[in-house]
Amino acid sequence: MLVINKINTFYSNTQALWDVCLSVEESAIVALVGSNGAGKTTLLKTISGLLKPYSGTIEFLGKRIDGLSPHLVVEAGISHIPEGGRIFTEMTVLENLEMGAYPYHAWKQRKETKKQVYQLFPVLEEREKQMARTLSGGEHQMLAMGRGLMSRPKLCIFDEPSYGLAPKYVEEVFEIIKSLRERGITILLIEQNVRRSLEIADKAYVMENGSITNEGVCQELLETDHVRKAYLGL
Ligand SMILES: Nc1ncnc2c1ncn2[C@@H]1O[C@H](COP(=O)(O)OP(=O)(O)OP(=O)(O)O)[C@@H](O)[C@H]1O
Ligand SMILES: [Mg+2]
Repeated sequence: MLVINKINTFYSNTQALWDVCLSVEESAIVALVGSNGAGKTTLLKTISGLLKPYSGTIEFLGKRIDGLSPHLVVEAGISHIPEGGRIFTEMTVLENLEMGAYPYHAWKQRKETKKQVYQLFPVLEEREKQMARTLSGGEHQMLAMGRGLMSRPKLCIFDEPSYGLAPKYVEEVFEIIKSLRERGITILLIEQNVRRSLEIADKAYVMENGSITNEGVCQELLETDHVRKAYLGL
């Protein structure tokens, strides 16, 4: 579904991604793990069009998307739920959700999609008219996820969706990600919680200093010495 081939991305003169290759199969959950500053967010931003790669290609459903502006990447069917789940704080919960439905096909179906989002996150329906800035940390993250779903994506890319959440919400986030896959949405997931993300993913990539250094089936990665020492503290 998504094929990333030899992507190199720079911030001014500093190279942040080096020949990154990664692929996501339809209906899979793929995890991307790596320590702080490894380049994970940079890769997601390169996919979603917020950063332009210097070289390399990104194909989504057989079409090149590298270099497209972010709104066209959303139109193509990719939703990026950013680090910290940025939302429009001076808008209500409902307005935030509607903002997520801006691609034409999604706008037509927004009422139906909103019902599905409220099934996943009942708290958002209760708080529909509340200003987004007054939401708790967990509700804020749920709104960001809900807004990301309003564009009716085929592929959702999540940048640390459980960051800063209390343990009971962390588990909920993982359950929601699993249920999205059951609804046919493909997932690319970055998570600090390496063990839990390798447990729910089908395959994972390890990124270090801007390069992919390991990849494979999660169960096998969980058993490698390097992953156990570097990410699981074993
Ligand atoms: N806007 C920017 N300008 C210059 N350098 C940047 C910028 N954003 C990120 N970097 C640098 O690029 C590298 C990769 O950063 P990135 O945010 O992709 O890491 P990350 O893997 O997402 O880390 P974390 O787990 O801490 O979120 C880091 O060295 C970072 O300092
Ligand atoms: Mg990051």
